[in-house]
Amino acid sequence: MKITIQPWGIGEAIPYDLLLLADPSKEMVDDYVARGRGYGAYMNGELAGEYVLIDTHPRTVEIVNIAVREDLQGKGIGKMLVESAIEEARRQGAHAVEIGTANSSFLQLKLYQRCGFRIVGVDMGFFIRHYEEAIYEDGIQVQDMVRLRLNLK
Ligand code: COA
Repeated sequence: MKITIQPWGIGEAIPYDLLLLADPSKEMVDDYVARGRGYGAYMNGELAGEYVLIDTHPRTVEIVNIAVREDLQGKGIGKMLVESAIEEARRQGAHAVEIGTANSSFLQLKLYQRCGFRIVGVDMGFFIRHYEEAIYEDGIQVQDMVRLRLNLK
């Protein structure tokens, strides 16, 4: 499986199918895609996954969206994307990378911690405040955002 990760091409369509897998709010997606930097994982020229970075605090980069096409999940592409995001952040001079995920997202919490992220806090009620509809994952209400950070310095 040969994967290349590179910035989305200028003029390339915004991959909403992938972005909305990670974040059901198109409004939020549009907001950070406009401010952020998007990267795609290409397999035989086809987009297999993506991530989006934004600068939050000075020298802190946040992965605000990360997703792999559903039929290609569980094959290691997500791990490659997280590692690529860390490398990009380092290259861009960041001292820390952050990511947030839902209280119910156990596989994601596993993946991020395996890549070196540590839990630094919980934004209580984030998903209740920012999303109009109640969201459930594996029978658990998505309410709180677990915040994770990887220090690069
Ligand atoms: N299916 C299978 N395994 C998954 C998984 C999924 N949907 N999500 C995470 N994992 C776990 C695996 O168990 C694997 O651990 P292992 O090495 O013990 O098998 C580890 O994460 C890495 O798996 P990998 O194959 O690199 O992940 P992936 O390519 O499936 O990408 C996501 C991970 C989360 C990006 C991807 O599943 C996805 O797009 N999910 C929907 C969108 C989403 O939730 N985005 C994150 C929002 S915070």
